[in-house]
Amino acid sequence: MRKIEIITPVEAKSYDELTDSDRRLVDLARRATEGSYAPYSHFRVGAAILLANGEIAVGANQENAAFPSGMCAERSACYWAGANYPGVAFEKIAIAAVGTDGLPTPQPCAPCGACRQALLEYETLAGHDVEVLLVGASEIYSLPSVASLLPLAFSEF
Ligand code: THU
Repeated sequence: MRKIEIITPVEAKSYDELTDSDRRLVDLARRATEGSYAPYSHFRVGAAILLANGEIAVGANQENAAFPSGMCAERSACYWAGANYPGVAFEKIAIAAVGTDGLPTPQPCAPCGACRQALLEYETLAGHDVEVLLVGASEIYSLPSVASLLPLAFSEF
């Protein structure tokens, strides 16, 4: 037997500790929650992706009466970026959420498994790490890559 330990490094930062560029991405992710359509869950998620050409793609969760037809904020943003800037590498993504109480979530909001899988593909296409900023009301978790959020990922068949 061989034991393998997988470690996910996370830096917890205050908003003030972020660089100007990261603050801007966090602000845009927070603002993107306003584009959420969430009449069923009342949980509003926003995502902002910084691209290598300097553009920032934003997305918000879009729900549907046929529940599985809805889409998460992260995939809304990354598919929009992929469709509008094909081949342009992702550099960084920030994700924020407003909870059912109408307030920014106290805990940093982490992407679901399906979004991690989708984002991982864009990280692979970028050919370098895509940093992830998970935004909470008073603390922001910074992770070095999407892969660090999805160890032992499915990547080929
Ligand atoms: N949601 C996201 O937008 N991103 C995630 O990574 C997890 C969940 C959305 C989907 C649904 O509209 C609502 O949050 C509640 O699950």
